[in-house]
Amino acid sequence: MNILVINGPNLNLLGTRETKIYGHESLDEIMTWLENSIEGLNHNFKFYQSNSEGDLINIMQDERQWAKGILINAGALSHYSYAIADTITSIKVPAIEIHLSDTDNREEFRKKSVLKDVCIKTIKGLGKHSYLEGLKYLENI
Ligand code: DQA
Repeated sequence: MNILVINGPNLNLLGTRETKIYGHESLDEIMTWLENSIEGLNHNFKFYQSNSEGDLINIMQDERQWAKGILINAGALSHYSYAIADTITSIKVPAIEIHLSDTDNREEFRKKSVLKDVCIKTIKGLGKHSYLEGLKYLENI
């Protein structure tokens, strides 16, 4: 299965950013771990990270024919980007919303996700395992 993994704003700082919440591993380390997991070895991946909403939208549009599933951690954009929500709806590729942290047990503004209803599943609070559980979910749709 061709899997597009999208990471949004500030996820490039993983490893140094708020390590009590997000841990000590870099985004590259987490993506390499995912790709080399038992489940990951069965799939083709494309990994993208951008701090820009427009880039994330362009990537999903450009890869919509290639991708058979999307894992998207849109960072803070998850809480307010109706543009990204529209993209997910428009491209008709099944997408899983991913969060490393448990956004229900943090600040109030993180409790709302505008991606929840356009994604087939949300997985949060499991650290890097949120990505792996998302991948397993995509395998079974
Ligand atoms: C995050 C949670 C968001 O609220 C936050 O803005 C992030 C990371 C997570 O993976 O837990 O950047 O998406």
